[in-house]
Amino acid sequence: MATTEILFNPFDPAFHRDPYPFYHRLRVADPVHTTPLGFVVLTRYDDVLTLLRDPRFGREGFHPMLAASQPSPTNPEPLPPSMLFQDPPVHTRLRALVTKAFTPRAVEAMRPQIQAIVDRLLDRAQEAGRMDVIDDLAYPLPVEVICEMLGVPTDAHAAIKGWSADLARSLDAIGLPAADEIRERGVQARRALADYFRTLLPERRRRPGPDLLSALLEVEEQGDRLTEPELLSMLILLFVAGHETTVNLIGNGVLALLRHPAELARLRREPGLAVSAVEELLRWDSPVQRTARTPATDVEIAGHPIPRGTLVVGAIGAANRDPAHFPDPDRLDVGRADNRHLSFGFGIHFCLGASLARLEGQIAIDTLVRRAPALELAPGELEWRQSSTLRGLVALPVTL
Ligand code: HEM
Repeated sequence: MATTEILFNPFDPAFHRDPYPFYHRLRVADPVHTTPLGFVVLTRYDDVLTLLRDPRFGREGFHPMLAASQPSPTNPEPLPPSMLFQDPPVHTRLRALVTKAFTPRAVEAMRPQIQAIVDRLLDRAQEAGRMDVIDDLAYPLPVEVICEMLGVPTDAHAAIKGWSADLARSLDAIGLPAADEIRERGVQARRALADYFRTLLPERRRRPGPDLLSALLEVEEQGDRLTEPELLSMLILLFVAGHETTVNLIGNGVLALLRHPAELARLRREPGLAVSAVEELLRWDSPVQRTARTPATDVEIAGHPIPRGTLVVGAIGAANRDPAHFPDPDRLDVGRADNRHLSFGFGIHFCLGASLARLEGQIAIDTLVRRAPALELAPGELEWRQSSTLRGLVALPVTL
């Protein structure tokens, strides 16, 4: 389309604060949009769905773009890309090794433990009469749960937290030429996490536990199904996913409820809405705003030719507000029916941790709104984290 206006710029502060008006304009003006940098952005639900489920759109084309997997002077022995960046059959083999730990049944068994963590965190906050929902609940809950599942220490030390955040932020830099610093920090963070996890392996080989790390080590020792670099890559993926996503479901979700008091009151009145409320909060302000694929052959999307190798971005946040799929998409409705949002993706890479994230989100949000009937946003400006692929707040101060 003939325009000099830049329609998709996630680094623009206004976009960063509130991307949804931008998505709506783009969806209407140019739904299969080629940016000046040459990549394509999809904002319609059906097109994003096609991108995620059509096997012609894959991940292997990304490998040269993943700086952390390329040998360099600062990263001489890179790990292979995780399963999130693999196509079948490698993806199929790796995913099969961990699915058992994340089935809805395995996750449901963790309910009492998740409730106990939430209660303990809220006991502490209630004594103080105020809290930062991010630091005091949304972040520590999933971190504690994933560390426990993996069998790595719940080590809240600042370095690990920083590496996890740097690695998550580096997702922003994929395919963007002007993001060298973000990319390099991601490379270093991945290396540092790998070095840290490597130090845990000898002890766990000697004394295996009931955790996922011990189970993966056993597979690695048995033979040819998993190499040590693949194991480390998997560990980093699960660890970072556990640190950087559910926090934003809880944070963005609580913020949305505080900004829609009638919906908050409705959720308090009808406890049965906890499940549909979390689905709506996921749709409303998705923690993962976009993902991407590259086609292995020349393809078309909605009649637009897309040459092989083109980076195609699916704007999940935009798909979730597409009026063609969600009646009155900008209305928050905690009882919304038939809510097939794409916040956990779709197809073979559908979020492995979806059941876990849902349960953590339901317990955390429901318990918070019930235990804090006077919950209110504290005055002050809200600041969003720098990452724009992963959308979340730096802090969410509230009074109880
Ligand atoms: C609200 C929280 C979460 C959201 C919104 C979310 C979102 C997503 C999305 C959109 C994808 C697909 C990406 C793509 O297709 O390119 C994905 C994949 C994945 N997620 Fe999550 N996620 C969340 C929580 C978690 C948790 C808690 C874990 C595990 C600890 C996890 C582990 C994974 C893994 C391993 C994959 C890759 C699956 C594969 O490649 O087959 N996620 N997630």
